[in-house]
Amino acid sequence: MRLVFLGPPGVGKGTQAQRLSTQRRIPKISTGDILREAVQKKTLLGLQAKSFMDSGKLVPDEVVIGIIRERLKESDCMEGFILDGFPRTVPQARALTAMLDRNRSGIDRVLNFELSDEELIRRLSGRRSCPNCQAVHHIEFNPPRKPDQCDACRGALIQRSDDRPETIRKRLDVYQTQTLPLIDFYKDQGILSRIDGSGNPEAVYRRVTDAIGK
Ligand code: AP5
Repeated sequence: MRLVFLGPPGVGKGTQAQRLSTQRRIPKISTGDILREAVQKKTLLGLQAKSFMDSGKLVPDEVVIGIIRERLKESDCMEGFILDGFPRTVPQARALTAMLDRNRSGIDRVLNFELSDEELIRRLSGRRSCPNCQAVHHIEFNPPRKPDQCDACRGALIQRSDDRPETIRKRLDVYQTQTLPLIDFYKDQGILSRIDGSGNPEAVYRRVTDAIGK
């Protein structure tokens, strides 16, 4: 099963993709996670990406397309994958179609998660992330057992540099102008499902599994 998770920042794509990845044993591929790891390790890719990410802008298409092209060649993607945060522009979506066409495959379903701006801002502002194991907490909705400590690996939790109020606003604007056109792109192909992102993670997960079936 080849899936794309689409939706604005903070809607819960990563949370749902992680759950589904564990349950269905297919990899979750998050361009955001790959880029953050590169920034942390100060690789060339990380140095290129950092200023775009810190200011809430998208990293250039050719950079993220290259990342996905290489990642999809890995053997764990043969049985399927969940793309979380890619594609985010029409050129990225076209490049993905071309990549999969070459293997005579395609995307089975695109889930578009929806939530009010007010709730998105609440989820993003309260998020605390573990740079060590990538676990995600929320100070209100999924608080760690010990303040500022990751439940999974006991690493120190941080607030992502792009989860500060001024950057959140920019990311929501970028989503509206650059990513929203993908909804029509995939609707026209008849593979788009709309997912109400409100409610607790369990309720959202039930909608996800209803949309993709067994
Ligand atoms: P990326 O990391 O992809 O960020 P994003 O798309 O903005 O999404 P988020 O990770 O912020 O949110 P999410 O929807 O995964 O929500 P989550 O599950 O964490 O990208 C970061 C940057 O990298 C971009 O700005 C760009 O610069 C660059 N980039 C990445 N991909 C790119 C691409 N393809 N092209 C160009 N540039 C790219 O949940 C949020 C919070 O809410 C958490 O605290 C969670 O615990 C909580 N939560 C989740 N679900 C629920 C629920 N149901 N109820 C209550 N709380 C919930």
